[in-house]
Amino acid sequence: MTATTSSQPAAAVRYSRITGTGSYLPPKRITNAEFAADLATRGIETSDEWIVERTGIRARHFADEGVTTSDLALEAARHALESAGRRADEIDLIIVATSTPDMIFPSAACLLQRKLGVHGCPAFDVQAVCSGFVYALTIADAMIRTGSARCALVVGAEVFSRILDFNDRTTCVLFGDGAGAVVLEASDTPGILATELHADGRHVEILCTPGTVANGKVLGDPLLKMDGQAVFKLAVGVLEQAARAVLDKSGRTEADIDWLIPHQANIRIMQGTAKKLKLPMDKLVVTVDEHGNTSAASIPLALDHAVRAGRVKRGDTVMLEGVGGGFTWGAVLLDF
Ligand code: UT7
Repeated sequence: MTATTSSQPAAAVRYSRITGTGSYLPPKRITNAEFAADLATRGIETSDEWIVERTGIRARHFADEGVTTSDLALEAARHALESAGRRADEIDLIIVATSTPDMIFPSAACLLQRKLGVHGCPAFDVQAVCSGFVYALTIADAMIRTGSARCALVVGAEVFSRILDFNDRTTCVLFGDGAGAVVLEASDTPGILATELHADGRHVEILCTPGTVANGKVLGDPLLKMDGQAVFKLAVGVLEQAARAVLDKSGRTEADIDWLIPHQANIRIMQGTAKKLKLPMDKLVVTVDEHGNTSAASIPLALDHAVRAGRVKRGDTVMLEGVGGGFTWGAVLLDF
């Protein structure tokens, strides 16, 4: 399938619909106990008990040296294409949500396109940190509904291990590497029902990696900084608002939600959101225990896990929710 240009618009369709999901975690798995033992050799104290109680995280996966975001994205993309029954050359749009691209440019999406062995279709990155996948899915949905694409590959992929400060126990135990992907196709039936995106740049400082590269040097601090409590407080409120907004837009209610798949950062934030929406905890998809916070990768990772476990099924109504640095947040309500 070739990319559609603005001079040759394809017929607009009513909906976009997920036709396949995939995910990938790099094989190096580090449990809390292993991580705590490693940090202890450098005089940094933490424990499995503290991490599990405060976050729900039990393990994280770290990519080996030399393995990049586009490598993880490639594995997740292959699985998603396989489950959608699509070949890479049938894709006419590639969007990668990431804050840890392989290089300053070209985008991880262009590198992924090359690794998939295809060329021609538009490919670009979206940088909205942990809300990145919800942003990317919203853009792909809009492009499909306006006829600019018919078969999109939407990926969230990260190597957050590369920007962690392993001397800061308040952040380094929280994050991991991974990738998740979906194939999103034009459809006459839903599909994505409603989307909602927000950002509030007044809160830039509460979660950031402020360094940059200029004149051949790293300027500023290139490691992640987070005011966890400030993020926590904002997250619970905005996630509820975004969920209510997509329900209102689509004429649905909380009772219609079969599965809530929030950004996988902290089990307490997820449970708080489910409670505010009056959802029983068995409707909440939780994978943070296995991979920690993988930023833009976490929602498609959790979705793919739930699909492959036979939990999320065709026809189920699914609420996806992202929140993170920027400060950014958003939600997507869809019929799977
Ligand atoms: O991806 C974007 C979204 N990000 C998030 O959603 C993160 C949101 N925030 C959080 O998840 C939580 O705020 C954290 C998990 C980051 C922290 O949990 P908390 O319950 O807010 O803990 P706290 O920051 O209030 O720290 C409590 C104590 C402190 O000690 P004191 O001052 O009470 O003596 C910390 O120094 O826990 C200490 N602490 C640790 N202890 C053992 C902080 N990190 C650790 C650690 N191990 N790794």
